[in-house]
Amino acid sequence: MNIETKRLVLRALEPEDAEFLAGVVNDPEVRDLLGAYELVFPVGPKAEAKWIASVSAREGEAHMTVTLRRGGRPIGILSVKDMDDRNASAHLSIVLERPSWDQGFGTEAVAGVLDFLFNRMNVHRVWLRVNERNVRAIRCYEKCGFSRDGILREDHFERGCWASSIIMSVLADEFRGRGR
Ligand SMILES: CC(C)(COP(=O)(O)OP(=O)(O)OC[C@H]1O[C@@H](n2cnc3c(N)ncnc32)[C@H](O)[C@@H]1OP(=O)(O)O)[C@@H](O)C(=O)NCCC(=O)NCCS
Repeated sequence: MNIETKRLVLRALEPEDAEFLAGVVNDPEVRDLLGAYELVFPVGPKAEAKWIASVSAREGEAHMTVTLRRGGRPIGILSVKDMDDRNASAHLSIVLERPSWDQGFGTEAVAGVLDFLFNRMNVHRVWLRVNERNVRAIRCYEKCGFSRDGILREDHFERGCWASSIIMSVLADEFRGRGR
């Protein structure tokens, strides 16, 4: 089953997405914003294919390719991990290719997945971790109803300096009450 929004279809990540994914994560502008999730070395399509095969087999996570409804072209990847049944919580992350930024796709994809998690899966809390200087991502998450839980001070090392991440979360009722 796919998750569909007005302009997007989120479908399962497939081995044939490896080349696209390698292109996205090797883009220095994208890497610069990944904070604690940043990859250090270049990765090629073969390594990405291996990664896709390994994560697809994991329990408690779902990795989806964000595609354009019109034409089906992939524009990014959205992952839901650490699905915790006992506490009804999940961890979300998203990366879009550079040319697709700032057109509302990130907000649309995240809101579509939150709707699915809260209203179909009965999840209570979705959380994420974002580099504190990633203002675009923070704005995108705020538009989806996330607020700041706190800061992980100097939790990762980038370009020769220690950097901090923000933990953000949104609860089911907050998402449903968004914009009221
Ligand atoms: C983060 C990401 C998923 C957001 O998706 P997106 O489609 O670009 O975001 P949207 O267009 O939905 O929303 C971006 C918002 O940030 C705003 N924004 C962009 N640049 C900004 C800046 N420098 N300062 C403040 N706000 C900014 C936009 O104006 C927009 O807000 P608005 O609708 O109120 O005008 C996407 O940019 C991405 O993949 N970036 C690289 C990887 C990354 O950072 N992933 C997140 C890791 S936690």
